Amino acid sequence: MSNSSHSNLPLSSGLESAVQEHLEHVKSIISKEPALHDSMHEICSYLHAQISHFDWVGFYLDDPEKKGYLKLGPYVGAPTDHTSIPYGKGICGQVAVSLETFISQDVHAEDNYIACSLEVQSEIVVPILKEGRFVAQIDIDSNTRSGITPADQKLLEGICALLSPLF
Ligand code: SME
Repeated sequence: MSNSSHSNLPLSSGLESAVQEHLEHVKSIISKEPALHDSMHEICSYLHAQISHFDWVGFYLDDPEKKGYLKLGPYVGAPTDHTSIPYGKGICGQVAVSLETFISQDVHAEDNYIACSLEVQSEIVVPILKEGRFVAQIDIDSNTRSGITPADQKLLEGICALLSPLF
C-alpha cells in the first residue's frame, strides 16, 4: 500500500494561487446551493472540468441505513458498480477506518483495491470528518500513473474542510 501524505510541503506560488482560486470557486458553489447534495454534485462537475487528470470525481457517504458501509453519493465520470462498499475494503473503505488521506500513485500495486475501470492508474481519497467522526469522503480516480500532485491533495483537503460543517 502506498499511503502517503505530503500536504505540509510548500507549494510554488503559482500552484498555491491555483489552489486558492479553486477553493474560492468551491466556496461560491457552497454559498449558492441550498442543498448539500447539489453542492457536492456541482463540485464534482467543476473539478472534473477544471483538472484534466481527474477522470472520475465522486463522493462516498457513511450509509445511515447500513452500518459500516459507504454509499455512493454524487459523482461525475463513468458509472461504477461499486455503489456500496464495506468499511475496510478497497482504498475507500480503508479511509473510512484510518480517517486519513490515502494516495495511491499506482493502483495496480495495491493489495486492497477495488477496480472501477481498467483505465484508472492513480487515486486519492480524502475523508470528511465532522467533530472527529467520519461522515463522507471525496474520491478521485486518475488515468495517469503517478497523477496525484501535492496541489491536488491540498485542494481536496481544503474542499473537505469547507464541506465538513454542512454535514
Ligand atoms: N477504487 C476504489 C473504489 C471506488 S471507485 O474508484 C469509484 C477503492 O479501491 O475503494
